[in-house]
Amino acid sequence: MPETSSSLHVSPHPLVAHKLALLRDKHTEPKQFRELVRELTWLLGYEAMADLTLQPSRIETPLEPMDAQRLEPRVGLIPILRAGLGMVDAMLELLPTAEVWHIGLYRDERTLKPVEYYNKLPDAATVQVCLILDPMLATGGSSAATVDILKHWGAARVKQLSLIAAPEGVRTLSSTHPDVDIHVAALDSHLNERGYIVPGLGDAGDRQFGTFAGPASEPGHGPDPHTAEVVRNLQRDLRKE
Ligand code: PRP
Ligand code: URA
Repeated sequence: MPETSSSLHVSPHPLVAHKLALLRDKHTEPKQFRELVRELTWLLGYEAMADLTLQPSRIETPLEPMDAQRLEPRVGLIPILRAGLGMVDAMLELLPTAEVWHIGLYRDERTLKPVEYYNKLPDAATVQVCLILDPMLATGGSSAATVDILKHWGAARVKQLSLIAAPEGVRTLSSTHPDVDIHVAALDSHLNERGYIVPGLGDAGDRQFGTFAGPASEPGHGPDPHTAEVVRNLQRDLRKE
């Protein structure tokens, strides 16, 4: 895959690079980790919203009437549980009127396929622009499944906001949904045999919420042969491009 695909936006901002280094550091504890997720989301979210459309709005300043502008589309924030939760507050600071629609997905550790467990979307879409919030775009399975759900719901436009992406995940998402813009702080090297992003930051959910289940569940722990095969297939697809 080329360094950038048409829909991939890697933030060039030095503040983003600095905060991401702190976030990745294995010595960063959950409290600071959560603060950094929030700050990075704010910076990336600001960039991701740069092309939102505006509509004219007549207002009166204390001095005189004027033609101003307001955001046109209704925006929905779609955090993928659990790890996306830490990105919601920062986005609500930027867009206080946004609707928040949670989607519950976890990634099966062996197959790396997303498993849906929470979805309370109403029948018809209530927003035009959806911003998916999930710190990690690894195989891209969780994200692609969420875009499927949102398009089926009727969302006109979908964007993905993640902190770190793997090339394998960018390929999955941009080949299944080429119209989805992907905004990230970094594009990392590759997935390891357990489907974790390298160098990455480990497990974004566990690091935010302090839920460490022991060495066997750590990102570098030995792979299940089936999981390693899933990752090899993704990497083969990537090399074909
Ligand atoms: C993580 C992450 C993404 C997913 C990314 O969630 O937050 O949702 O994995 O992987 P993918 O791109 O290969 O689908 P996880 O399944 O660990 O659930 P959690 O947020 O509840 O910890
Ligand atoms: N989920 C994470 O939290 N981290 C990864 O590297 C991959 C999936």
